[in-house]
Amino acid sequence: MSEYIMEVNDLKTHFHTKTGVVKAVDGVNFKVKKGEILGIVGESGCGKSVTSQSIMRLVGSKSSEHVSGEVRYHGEDLLLKTEREMEKIRGKDISMVFQDPMTSLNPAYNVGTQIAEMPEIHEKKPKKAAWKRAVEMLTKVGIPSSEKRAHQYPHQYSGGMRQRGVIAMSLACDPDLIIADEPTTALDVTIQAQVLDLLRKLRDDTGTAIMMITHDLGVVAELCDRVAVMYAGKIVEEGTIEDIFDRPKHPYTKGLLNSVPRPGRRERLQPIEGQPPNLQNLPQGCRFQDRCPFVMDKCLAQQPELLPAESEQHTVACWLEEEGQPDGDRGTRKNRQPEEAL
Ligand SMILES: Nc1ncnc2c1ncn2[C@@H]1O[C@H](COP(=O)(O)OP(=O)(O)OP(=O)(O)O)[C@@H](O)[C@H]1O
Ligand SMILES: [Mg+2]
Repeated sequence: MSEYIMEVNDLKTHFHTKTGVVKAVDGVNFKVKKGEILGIVGESGCGKSVTSQSIMRLVGSKSSEHVSGEVRYHGEDLLLKTEREMEKIRGKDISMVFQDPMTSLNPAYNVGTQIAEMPEIHEKKPKKAAWKRAVEMLTKVGIPSSEKRAHQYPHQYSGGMRQRGVIAMSLACDPDLIIADEPTTALDVTIQAQVLDLLRKLRDDTGTAIMMITHDLGVVAELCDRVAVMYAGKIVEEGTIEDIFDRPKHPYTKGLLNSVPRPGRRERLQPIEGQPPNLQNLPQGCRFQDRCPFVMDKCLAQQPELLPAESEQHTVACWLEEEGQPDGDRGTRKNRQPEEAL
């Protein structure tokens, strides 16, 4: 069996709007290993949420939403599944945690009932057993007096507790992948740290893989094993935490790292100048060209591919990589003709 539970190949999600085609996700490739925590990081609007919504088939049903490529989950392409088949997968095999817990919680029902619904629907568990499971899950995510709390309504929970409740719901059917889209962004820092701790502990205990979508490099550093950096609908660099934080290659990744405070570093923060390109009117060539301090002629003409840099697992989409090593001793990119790289 493959070590990967999910393989996303050339995923494209384009929205056809009155003013033109928005290429929100435009040829994204990545893999998620069993039990790993993969971070997807990038500025607002770079396509992180649309990537996760496309995987879960939450976009793609309207005629204006065009999703193509492959989302292989245990080898099967989710993009080819019927809506009925997807309903069975969502919440059971793959579950989602959103930024706002009230996206998932209904204010009209107590929290226990909402969690219990998951095993009731997906595993056909009898009501009593499902309720027991809900209380167990609340205990697992660190809700005190879980038996009593299960009877309470979302408004009786604090923000941090609600997010724990949603995580309990996402775990109720033992998924092997949780997609968490900015799950801690709305929480204050101490609660955020607790929720990150909780997610890491749950992964360690249950072996659930987590795709952590965030714009916050601090969250990535704290939680993830590997990270994919997204820019304007594409992944521009991917690697282990050490690859990305200690040996970043892409000027965008370097810019991101320079624009956030990091422990032990006292230089002035340097924000990345400029704005990401308009997704309706993308430039030819590299999408970071307008903001890149190292831009070359080639960058204006051709889009660089995501290819191995120092190791097979550390990939970068940047022409500088080739320029930086003129003897061409750089694995797969070496001897590549420009037209092949398009
Ligand atoms: N239904 C839609 N129709 C047209 N454009 C859309 C639609 N949904 C998203 N977009 C556009 O797609 C781009 C990517 O959006 P997405 O929500 O994935 O960004 P993000 O990386 O999650 O940002 P954030 O960090 O702010 O959550 C944005 O420019 C957004 O405006
Ligand atoms: Mg988002």
